[in-house]
Amino acid sequence: MRRKLVVANRKMNGSIPDNRAFMAGVVQGMRELRKIDCAICVPHPYLYQAQVLLADTPVAWGGQNMSRHEFGPYTGSVAPGMLVEFGCKYVIIGHSERRERGYESDDAAGERFEMALKAGLTPIFCVGETLSEFEAGMTDSVAIRQLNAVVDHVGVRGLAKGVLAYEPIWAIGTGKSATPEHAQTILAFLRGHVALLDETAAERLRILYGGSVKADNAAELFAMPDIDGGLIGSASLVTEEFLTICRVADAA
Ligand code: PGA
Repeated sequence: MRRKLVVANRKMNGSIPDNRAFMAGVVQGMRELRKIDCAICVPHPYLYQAQVLLADTPVAWGGQNMSRHEFGPYTGSVAPGMLVEFGCKYVIIGHSERRERGYESDDAAGERFEMALKAGLTPIFCVGETLSEFEAGMTDSVAIRQLNAVVDHVGVRGLAKGVLAYEPIWAIGTGKSATPEHAQTILAFLRGHVALLDETAAERLRILYGGSVKADNAAELFAMPDIDGGLIGSASLVTEEFLTICRVADAA
């Protein structure tokens, strides 16, 4: 049985007082839940605050991106080891908001995944298609291409040390979630693809769905057998809504 994971992707939102209220609320709510893991991925300047407020609580924290280099002349970048110094457990890799402006190729995302594992972080690796790719029936091929870039770097066992997140780009921030059936079909397909390489890895791999998960659609999404939790953007900006999603995952 895979343990469900609910991750807040706070994107470029928050402030010191707002984060404090959000994190305190999530910690308090999570103390009543036993069956899920929960994490908050914050903008880099708030990692220290996350470390102070979340250490020794049931809530983990992480970054939203990292460099594929260990150190060096990369102005504005953050090294994997720096995330580790601030106690991060997770790092989001290959989010579409980073891929889409050409900041990140498939191979670069695969390399970041490898560097994250080497640093001792758990990468949350995002795959997903654009609206035009969806309409052209390319969902499967896009996701497999993106996933294979990770397998090329770390093998299928390496992939299973991370978390996979299927996030159709047309569902992100649009309020238009994929239907539970669509999400389940794609997640089962991805797990099946991994199983062809290694059945144990496929069984162990946690696959999240992300894209307009809200308090009112979480229950039907989390009821699907291959959906192991969610990567939550907009709904993580409201403490009570995020906690409702956590409670729904705990009860699923
Ligand atoms: P959303 O974002 O929940 O606002 O759609 C999800 C994500 O981008 O991870």
